[in-house]
Amino acid sequence: MTAARPLSIPLSDGAKPAAIPALGFGTSPMTGGMSADSVLTALKVGYRHIDTGRKYGTEAAVGEAMRASGLKRDDIFLVTKVSHENLRSTDFARSLDQSLAALKVDYLDLLMIHWPNPAIPLSEAMPALAKAKRDGLARHIGVANFNTTLLDEAVRLCPEPLSVLQAEYHPFLDQSRLLAGVRKHGLAFVAYCPLARGRLFDNAVLQDIAKTRGRSIAQIALRWLIQQDVAAIPFSSNPQRIADNFDVFDFELSDAEMARISALKSTGLRIANPVERVTGGWD
Ligand SMILES: NC(=O)c1ccc[n+]([C@@H]2O[C@H](COP(=O)([O-])OP(=O)(O)OC[C@H]3O[C@@H](n4cnc5c(N)ncnc54)[C@H](OP(=O)(O)O)[C@@H]3O)[C@@H](O)[C@H]2O)c1
Repeated sequence: MTAARPLSIPLSDGAKPAAIPALGFGTSPMTGGMSADSVLTALKVGYRHIDTGRKYGTEAAVGEAMRASGLKRDDIFLVTKVSHENLRSTDFARSLDQSLAALKVDYLDLLMIHWPNPAIPLSEAMPALAKAKRDGLARHIGVANFNTTLLDEAVRLCPEPLSVLQAEYHPFLDQSRLLAGVRKHGLAFVAYCPLARGRLFDNAVLQDIAKTRGRSIAQIALRWLIQQDVAAIPFSSNPQRIADNFDVFDFELSDAEMARISALKSTGLRIANPVERVTGGWD
């Protein structure tokens, strides 16, 4: 079956919006800046899920683009994150206020802890995150860069239900264990670095599938994620590539193609790896 319309992934915490758009726009540039123009291009192309973080320094540009787009606030699924050094309750509340002020919005669709911090117990961080939801400042809450053990702990200690885990995921990284851990709790998985920051592009298997399909390698990699019901948030500074990356809803990879791409996980490439912030290592 071919899906021509953008897909969404259900969120199971009972809050509205009840789903997260499967293709989002990342706003953390690796080098240089990220302009409001790129976000505006993404919104014009059809992206309705924008991923930022206090740490990225891109919240003001995201807010500017949202206003320039003419879209209603409710039309956009807006995500930001609180950095690992701000997980104590007072710092957390201050960081959240700064995010809302920079974005010039009065609520977030999803607020996440950006990285765990072994120096700040989850017994303090999770209630601080839950308070944002109880205060109506975040419709959904989630965590990023938690391994399965930390996720179990976070779910147990959070006074409000979590709805999303965000982590690195692309064809060169095996995330099957983390994916199973996320699904066990009924959470949605959002994949960052879905294009492995460009390192996928000279892979022969992906080139072969892309050629057969008449699609770009980026589209194949993104389609591989969303066909696992995983959301993806690629970044690009290039208007043509921003559009290309969103054009993944009118074709479907076969089971054999999915399996060929999944077999690339033996590459074992992890890009974002500040392990000192993560207790217990990765899955
Ligand atoms: N939670 C976390 O800790 C965390 C960590 C990392 C990232 N993230 C989020 O995930 C987002 C995406 O990750 P990422 O930006 O690191 O990596 P990515 O999306 O995998 O790759 C972005 C890179 O790929 C290039 N690119 C994009 N589309 C392309 C295409 N169709 N063809 C060729 N090249 C293409 C871009 O270059 P051009 O600009 O030249 O197109 C850019 O250099 C971030 O922006 C951020 O929002 C979250």
